[in-house]
Amino acid sequence: MIFLPPACAGGFTFATQMPFQMRIDVLTLFPEMFSSPLSHSILKRAQQHGIVDIVVSNIRDFTHGSYRKVDDKPYGGGPGMVMMPQPVFDAVENVTTLSEEKPRIILLSPQGKKLNQPLVNEFSREKRLMLIAGRYEGFDERIRIGLDAEQVSIGDYVLSGGELPAMVLIDAVVRLLEGSLGDEQSAAEESFSDGLLEYPHYTRPEDFRGMKVPDILLSGDHGKIAKWRREQALERTKTNRPDLMREKDNK
Ligand code: ADE
Repeated sequence: MIFLPPACAGGFTFATQMPFQMRIDVLTLFPEMFSSPLSHSILKRAQQHGIVDIVVSNIRDFTHGSYRKVDDKPYGGGPGMVMMPQPVFDAVENVTTLSEEKPRIILLSPQGKKLNQPLVNEFSREKRLMLIAGRYEGFDERIRIGLDAEQVSIGDYVLSGGELPAMVLIDAVVRLLEGSLGDEQSAAEESFSDGLLEYPHYTRPEDFRGMKVPDILLSGDHGKIAKWRREQALERTKTNRPDLMREKDNK
């Protein structure tokens, strides 16, 4: 993960070469929020192994006045403040030129279409994503229109900003990139990959406080185990997420 100071615009050769499967630019007012999630586990490994290049820029670095103002009152009145277009456009234009690949621009916003596994799969096939995390009441509408950006929400609830949603999206996408997960099977078999929730897992010991591992998993009969897992996945999905069952039936 690289925190990009604006003074470096144009001077970064690493970013122009695209040796990575994917490049993700993040534009935010709180770049430090990204340090920890991007420095652990799968996201850390994927960056170290050259699978993904994640570059975080501070939108406030692209303000012009001495107050470094990024927001202002809404025209027409109303509560809260709105993110101004100029610093966002300048930040976007700064990073856009650092790589030849045209980015798919995503505004994290509760107004957006809801992130789900099919959309994550679609994003994972892109060469370059640009995520813009908003704060305050939201973005000036001209940011969405002028940047031809799509809005994405991580769920029907309102968070304090787009940073956590951006991290959720990054995590969900990067783990699908080839080589990110040690075992290629795991992404293929997990929840949502076939529109169902995952079957239950068990590991040692066989008996934990009187709760036993189902006999079938100890039987060694792979056909029967696969059938049992499928039935369990269907059962769980019916109980916990009937909406997913309906979606599946309508396909
Ligand atoms: N910003 C605030 N709430 C959000 C949400 N639910 N999804 C995406 N961005 C957001």
